[in-house]
Amino acid sequence: MAKKTIEDVSVSGKRVLVRCDFNVPLDANKRITDEKRIVGALPTIEYLVKNNAKVILCSHLGRPKGEFNDKYSLAPVAARLAQLLQKEVPLAADVIGPSAKGLASALKDGDVMLLENLRFHKEEEKNDPAFAKELASMADLYVNDAFGTAHRAHASTEGVTHYLPAVAGYLIQKEIEIMGKALDNPERPFVAILGGAKVSDKIGVINNLLEKVDALLIGGGMAYTFQKALGGQIGNSLLEADKVELAKELMAKAASKGVRLLLPVDNEAGDSFSNDSLHITVHSQDIPDGFEGLDIGPKTQIIFSAEISRAKTVIWNGPMGVFEFDSYAQGTRAIARAMAECDGTTIVGGGDSAAAIELMGYAKRVSHVSTGGGASLEYMEGIELPGVAALNDK
Ligand code: 3PG
Repeated sequence: MAKKTIEDVSVSGKRVLVRCDFNVPLDANKRITDEKRIVGALPTIEYLVKNNAKVILCSHLGRPKGEFNDKYSLAPVAARLAQLLQKEVPLAADVIGPSAKGLASALKDGDVMLLENLRFHKEEEKNDPAFAKELASMADLYVNDAFGTAHRAHASTEGVTHYLPAVAGYLIQKEIEIMGKALDNPERPFVAILGGAKVSDKIGVINNLLEKVDALLIGGGMAYTFQKALGGQIGNSLLEADKVELAKELMAKAASKGVRLLLPVDNEAGDSFSNDSLHITVHSQDIPDGFEGLDIGPKTQIIFSAEISRAKTVIWNGPMGVFEFDSYAQGTRAIARAMAECDGTTIVGGGDSAAAIELMGYAKRVSHVSTGGGASLEYMEGIELPGVAALNDK
């Protein structure tokens, strides 16, 4: 990465504002249900503590729309950080107010604190310069380690870099290095597997990946629009009628680039969108009326898994079916298992597929599970992430 990192600057004795992505899921009792993003930020925090910095952590949580809302307080994150770091992590009662500034000025070398949710101020998402300047005023150095929010040009990810020296933390560095190598200099065969509900969400990714991969496997809800483009019967399956022509163009582009584009050959279909629906296995171009495709079928699982097992680099984004329903989780589980069993570099690009591989117990057996949802998608589209672009060059 051509950006400066925490190892390129002196941090000892300095007040360091660290933007993390602690936007973690909470249950009704405010218990954190997936702490991957918190654990992902630890190497940077531990490095700063060990090197005698005064650490001011900040993050958003959810979308509180610019006003204080206890539901979105970072209190559960501060408590978990204190356990993981085995030291006190006081939470400021505000973001740029007297509590935050008081705690920040009292920090001793090696201390850590956390500001309250940045999005309690509407100025955060507006990238307001005065708000960014106030944030910056508490510190001598800025570290961005919020890969999951690097696609947002907000005050704490972009604005603040106008007022402080700005460098990358270890998590951003690792995400960009692993995904960057896979996209720019992959060991081949390079296979991408895309799923998820909508073609419209993945147009940019498909376009960019068609320039790079040897094979593109398409499952999930968006595959039905491709089947329709091929003249198939898709029953009541998800269809983006206005994307049928685009699907044809993408298939033509794949052919002209010599990329093998594989669609499902069979599907699991149900007579309603529910776990208990009447469940049949059908040819992908022959889904009867009254049924909708909800997962890839057993033959497709075998074909897709074989492609993955032969690959030297695999990127996966998007589930193969409605994996939240046990009856339609088999396809996504088969892909997760194939990823785990593949000897090549295996990357799960955040969001739903990251949640799925975690849930299915295979997350530790792949090379990398991205902490970014939208951020990793935009990175795979080849878009420059503003939160990374704004950091100081080496
Ligand atoms: C995410 O979960 O993708 C990031 O934390 C960004 O959150 P946002 O989509 O609310 O900006």
